[in-house]
Amino acid sequence: MTGGQRSGAAPVMPGKPSQQGGQSEEVAPQPPLLELENVTRVHGEGQTAVTALDGVTLRVRSGELVAVMGPSGSGKSTLLNLAGGLDRATSGAVRIAGTDLGALRPRDLARLRRRQVGVVFQDLNLIPSLTAAENIGLPLELDGDSLGRSRRNALDALDQLGLRELADRYPDQMSGGQQQRVAIARALVGSRQLVLADEPTGALDSTTGEGVLRVLRQRVDDGAAGLLVTHEARHAAWADRVVFLRDGVVVDTTGVPDTPDTLLEPST
Ligand SMILES: Nc1ncnc2c1ncn2[C@@H]1O[C@H](COP(=O)(O)OP(=O)(O)OP(=O)(O)O)[C@@H](O)[C@H]1O
Ligand SMILES: [Mg+2]
Repeated sequence: MTGGQRSGAAPVMPGKPSQQGGQSEEVAPQPPLLELENVTRVHGEGQTAVTALDGVTLRVRSGELVAVMGPSGSGKSTLLNLAGGLDRATSGAVRIAGTDLGALRPRDLARLRRRQVGVVFQDLNLIPSLTAAENIGLPLELDGDSLGRSRRNALDALDQLGLRELADRYPDQMSGGQQQRVAIARALVGSRQLVLADEPTGALDSTTGEGVLRVLRQRVDDGAAGLLVTHEARHAAWADRVVFLRDGVVVDTTGVPDTPDTLLEPST
């Protein structure tokens, strides 16, 4: 009797549930939580250089979920890695809550990432020698939480995804889908303001995948900013906006809300 379905909350129109209350008319302009300004990333040098991202400008506000779509090799993971401070731009600026990541020392960047950014990687990156709860609690512990506190938070995050019973299992004792959901719990634990997910539903059946998106959407509605890489239109439908990449360039954006400055600005 686990995985209890919440009564009646079917995502008939998943696109913009963040507006459903209609009572939070923010007057003061909020700076975007995530800002990429004319960002280029070139891998390698000389003849073998690959421009994975080419002059991308993108802003994501708190309470906003942006989906990134595009063919394989178009730069989606590169964009996500740059947004999370896991990779550095060759040129241009990446800011989280106004802080320019390029100006931070490695140790400060690592701290900002632990506190502010939750990432679900395309290849999960769970640590094999740690249980699910330990994997989830690790970033909290690194950030100074006590073992007890980080475990409580880890168990809460597992609860959110209906995975409490996996707490003490190691990654190789879980199915691919379960590992994926643990990786998602790890990204959501604590109070990270920016949640980045690279194909987080790849190994999941469609019902479980929807559940994961629902949790992500909820987290964004609670105030986080989210960036979701996906190949599936029905998953992108959970986002407020969809950005399309091709050959490292933003070629289109849809579902733009009425505030023009949340628009993705073409670089030229
Ligand atoms: N470390 C690297 N060294 C060299 N080239 C790289 C590196 N990482 C990515 N690339 C190249 O940059 C481009 C963008 O890669 P990226 O991983 O961002 O694509 P993607 O859109 O996430 O693709 P997929 O849908 O297959 O995950 C590709 O041409 C890729 O080969
Ligand atoms: Mg990728």
